[in-house]
Amino acid sequence: MDSANPVVELKGITKRFPGIIANDSISLKLHKGEIHALLGENGAGKSTLMNILFGLYQPDEGSIELNGEQVIIDNPNKAIELGIGMVHQHFKLVQPFTVTENIILGMEPKKYGLHVDYKTATAKIKDLSDQYGLKVNPNAKISEISVGMQQRVEILKTLYRGADILIFDEPTAVLTPQEITELMTIMRRLVEEGKSIILITHKLKEIMRISDTVTIIRRGKVIDTLKTTDTNPNALAEKMVGRNVSFKIDKKPANPGEAILKVRDLKLKNKEGISVLNGLSLEVRSGEILGVAGVDGNGQSELIEALTGLRKVDSGSVMLKGLEIMNQNPRQMSEHGLSHIPEDRHKHGLVLDFSISENMILETYYKAPFTKGGFLNQQAITEQAERLVKQFDVRTPSIDTKARSLSGGNQQKAIIAREIDKNPELLIAAQPTRGLDVGAIEFVQEQIVSQRDQGKAVLLISFELDEIMNVADRIVVLYEGRVVGDVLPEETNDQELGLMMSGSTVAGGH
Ligand SMILES: Nc1ncnc2c1ncn2[C@@H]1O[C@H](COP(=O)(O)OP(=O)(O)OP(=O)(O)O)[C@@H](O)[C@H]1O
Ligand SMILES: [Mg+2]
Repeated sequence: MDSANPVVELKGITKRFPGIIANDSISLKLHKGEIHALLGENGAGKSTLMNILFGLYQPDEGSIELNGEQVIIDNPNKAIELGIGMVHQHFKLVQPFTVTENIILGMEPKKYGLHVDYKTATAKIKDLSDQYGLKVNPNAKISEISVGMQQRVEILKTLYRGADILIFDEPTAVLTPQEITELMTIMRRLVEEGKSIILITHKLKEIMRISDTVTIIRRGKVIDTLKTTDTNPNALAEKMVGRNVSFKIDKKPANPGEAILKVRDLKLKNKEGISVLNGLSLEVRSGEILGVAGVDGNGQSELIEALTGLRKVDSGSVMLKGLEIMNQNPRQMSEHGLSHIPEDRHKHGLVLDFSISENMILETYYKAPFTKGGFLNQQAITEQAERLVKQFDVRTPSIDTKARSLSGGNQQKAIIAREIDKNPELLIAAQPTRGLDVGAIEFVQEQIVSQRDQGKAVLLISFELDEIMNVADRIVVLYEGRVVGDVLPEETNDQELGLMMSGSTVAGGH
């Protein structure tokens, strides 16, 4: 590392939004061949800073230098021209197009000035994918491939455009553990070949495992820049949130009562006629957190959609407190006392162009006290929103701010606040801590445990084995659309769960 000659230098970057200073005179140096992690609380200003480097926003103050020369990056095309690529948290791929079409979109090589020269493009993509170990199927449609492969397409797209500086904004939030390991290998390969990387992640283990340098920001300001080998997860967490964070949740033993949710023999075939739910049965009792473990794509999404009224199943039974509710619609499900923290917060959790206060009453606006005598009661709505924003530490300039302009983690906190506040009989929490900072994770997990301590039933679906092991009172493992294991966290371990998740039968169980 040559500290004299950074490839990128951000100098005193300041960016203001209405009611907030998102970046407050931030300076940062990125060196050639370096993986520089950017760590900070939800809303600290990480994505804003990277959006400035990628030309999506203009700074109010400060400057950017590339290889010692000042540059103005006033749009993403300019950034690409300068060799900067960004892999966004929410991918920007065209679903019905193929992998190759997406990679060359906007820069198709032309033959005789007429036709797109796919042969040249395909050859170049193949070279890049071999060079960096980015395995993709060039002819597959985006809608048919896994999230991990979509991300590789995004990376190839930036490399195809000649990027030397790569920005990754929370690339691992949506990946499975196996895909994360693959991504880490790819990132290593990229820096070995002379690329430089800025990596945003909330996962401290990943920072320790892959980064050379880490910069911590809090409320728009740089707190510190450290060599990764000179720090550790506890120190990083403390610098980031300004207090000590415990990574192990403190909870009393569960005291389960009657079964609140009884799912029997759910069956569902998808459009292609493949069984995605294959006789799935489970029970969640009051005062119990049932964790659902499994590799992505083994029926988790379909189970959640069936339980929340978003998808009809072919047969089976779903009983909530003794009432058959299978194939009812989402509002009916909600009326029966079901809350849902969805895995896709943009699709099902929030209306992005509504204000925070409107989002807080999305499912309850038609009821008292929010509607009275046929009219919306603005004061009650305001009070509700103010209370939830405070209680759940949703960082927003005001409750009238649109959900769209909140940081990713704060959007998630807003949904969790609304769903837990409904005081449900059954809380379905799908990937509830995805995209949250370590301080917010601790808070949300405590809220989930507090629900079960109040006698509620909780169904927790998570790809994070740590989270399942830490929070759940009992664990079921899904494989190919049914439950293949039912164990207690204190009687199992990651290896055993891993085996069941891969379909191997394990002796024992309950
Ligand atoms: N387009 C925008 N309009 C108004 N405010 C914005 C906009 N984009 C970001 N903000 C605000 O700027 C602050 C920083 O947001 P940013 O998205 O950079 O946070 P972050 O560090 O990436 O957080 P997270 O970890 O939750 O993704 C937040 O308070 C956010 O509400
Ligand atoms: Mg962000």
